[in-house]
Amino acid sequence: MTRVFSGIKPTGHLTLGNYLGAMRQWATVDQHRSEALFCIVDLHALTVDHDPARVRRLSRQAATLLLASGLDPDLCTVFVQSHVDEHARLSYLLECVATDGEMRRMIQYKEKAAREQRRGGSVRLSLLTYPVLMAADILAYGTDEVPVGNDQTQHVELARDLAVRFNQRYGHTFVVPRAMNPAVAARVMNLQDPGSKMGKSDDSGPGIVYLLDEPDTVRKKVMRAVTDSGSEVVYDRESRPGLANLLEILAACTGGDPEQLADAYDGYGALKRDTADAVIEVLRPLRERHQELCADPGHVEGVLREGAARARGIARPTVDAAYRAIGLLPAESEDGAVALNAAR
Ligand code: TYM
Repeated sequence: MTRVFSGIKPTGHLTLGNYLGAMRQWATVDQHRSEALFCIVDLHALTVDHDPARVRRLSRQAATLLLASGLDPDLCTVFVQSHVDEHARLSYLLECVATDGEMRRMIQYKEKAAREQRRGGSVRLSLLTYPVLMAADILAYGTDEVPVGNDQTQHVELARDLAVRFNQRYGHTFVVPRAMNPAVAARVMNLQDPGSKMGKSDDSGPGIVYLLDEPDTVRKKVMRAVTDSGSEVVYDRESRPGLANLLEILAACTGGDPEQLADAYDGYGALKRDTADAVIEVLRPLRERHQELCADPGHVEGVLREGAARARGIARPTVDAAYRAIGLLPAESEDGAVALNAAR
């Protein structure tokens, strides 16, 4: 059976971009057709300036929203990264396979490092090595497919490169994964700045639809979306990015095609109204289920506990195999005898 792994970082409130670019695919497709694991990657949230209490709160909220979006613990595994030691164990081995140059070429590193420096902060070393930890997340589970928005494609490519390099040097250990992007809305843009991704860690609230926004707030944000000059409705990402973004959001929410949808409108007003309605309808069940789950935090905790136990069981043998392959002495032989005896 195909193994699917994906993750979400608790650095801010989850957005419509997270939902349309990744989470919806996980709930409606991936968990039904594959052995799927979905992870709240909390270690990744420590790579930038962070408030410990906020990370804890956002981790809990992300877990609750994943379940509210339809992930079913009977069909898939939902867990928190820091509950499974294998991620950090494998990350170090992969740091011994990755190169400094490779890390410095990562687009997200360049962008985030520049942003941190602009704010007068220092750049954490973990921000540079973050893609290696992400590769460890993926490779520890023998993952075939990684469903993500297209901002993560370069990171998944790195995971592929590291898997191939490790296998060539030390013998076949890892499955080589591939990124899977949704057909539409693989990159939802900020409504106020259609040149930038709608990102949960950004500061510009009015351009970001959060999954827990009230319907009125969603409507206001969509109606105030920046559109391009011109009045004709056409789908062209290059010259009309604001309009293309709205058409993609509408298409993703209604199951349509952005180009065909463009033909159905002759003005921006109606397009914005329909897009707002469609987004509100997509988010409604999610908000309702989130509220129910919040009333029962013990349930969410139980799901995460069981998820971590299951995830550990899957990751452990692969990470142990990587430790052996790279030349580290096993702590214990298969039958539990002390390694040195077995190695003699
Ligand atoms: P993160 O937390 O930024 O985003 C989670 C998922 O949401 C997608 N996404 C978007 N898709 C479309 N439009 C947008 N505006 C948008 N914003 C976010 C992301 O592509 C992602 O699929 N490094 C990852 C987390 C991670 C991970 C992993 C993912 C860590 N380890 C292993 C997959 C496998 C990240 O920062 O995602």
